[in-house]
Amino acid sequence: NWTTANVVDEQVALVREQVGKKRAICGLSGGVDSAVAAALVQKAIGSQLTCVYVDHGLMRKGETEQVEKDFVAATGVQLRVVDAQERFLAALAGVSDPEQKRKIIGREFIRVFEQAQAEIVAEAGAEGEDVAFLVQGTLYPDVVESGGGAGTANIKSHHNVGGLPDDIEFALVEPLRKLFKDEVRMVGQQLGLPDEIVQRQPFPGPGLGIRIVGEVTRDRLDLLREADAIAREELTAAGLDREIWQCPVVLLADVRSVGVQGDGRTYGHPIVLRPVSSEDAMTADWTRMPYDVLAKISTRITNEVADVNRVVLDVTSKPPGTIEWE
Ligand code: XMP
Repeated sequence: NWTTANVVDEQVALVREQVGKKRAICGLSGGVDSAVAAALVQKAIGSQLTCVYVDHGLMRKGETEQVEKDFVAATGVQLRVVDAQERFLAALAGVSDPEQKRKIIGREFIRVFEQAQAEIVAEAGAEGEDVAFLVQGTLYPDVVESGGGAGTANIKSHHNVGGLPDDIEFALVEPLRKLFKDEVRMVGQQLGLPDEIVQRQPFPGPGLGIRIVGEVTRDRLDLLREADAIAREELTAAGLDREIWQCPVVLLADVRSVGVQGDGRTYGHPIVLRPVSSEDAMTADWTRMPYDVLAKISTRITNEVADVNRVVLDVTSKPPGTIEWE
């Protein structure tokens, strides 16, 4: 019978069997899935696990610091933070196509993990001792939507499934591959992770890179980070964090519209707010959220974020829209 305790016991045994005495690394993204996967694998193999947090520069404001602080405090796991901002920006330069972005991000993640693996082996001085395993927080919906399920089409390549490069040499450890998000949260609770981690809203591994419609540049990322921080601050202040499943904030970097501010004409970019309600992210509805909260977010973003002169609300369900724009 399905209980979180049974799931944990079963997966701990499977991971032990798969990894044996070798080492594993786990890509930590700051999200619920990778945190729960890491905690589960840590329970199974303890110090044979090293977590690697890749700062790809596509994170939201404060996210990197939060992972460094909260997750290590909660689990005591060995964490390695890699600053890979330049590398990801260079790889994404000139690319606007969503699937291409996803593939590039998925590939760069793996290249960074390979480097970390080599360093860990070198530091341990364990000649010939392998870090052969990569732990990922892949969920059932990620597999299905990347075209991995029977009879399913590829809707978008999730960075840790369809976005993986072909020449990957790691064996994957994916203890959450059969679970939905709500189940993963329960498993996280069972493992003793705090609410700040378990109840976090989903945030995609490719981060803000798939929330800029158009080419990803440093300036655009900075701009979107500001707008996103304002939206999150106001949603939290309004007490809507639990009611809303997640609220992507999207920059339409290739679109401009005319506006007026002060005495002058502006010609800036629109920001899209995409608040959704969902059970498992497979389907979703747009959240009917209070107008006054929307008004406040809109006023603040257009006042405080340079080059943004319009805020629009996405009122599309999934289907036909997906939650993220790319
Ligand atoms: P979509 O846009 O497919 O999103 O409706 C469904 C859920 O998955 C998240 N998402 C991702 N998560 N890597 C992730 O870790 C990805 O590549 C990815 N793409 C989408 C999205 O935020 C939503 O919660």
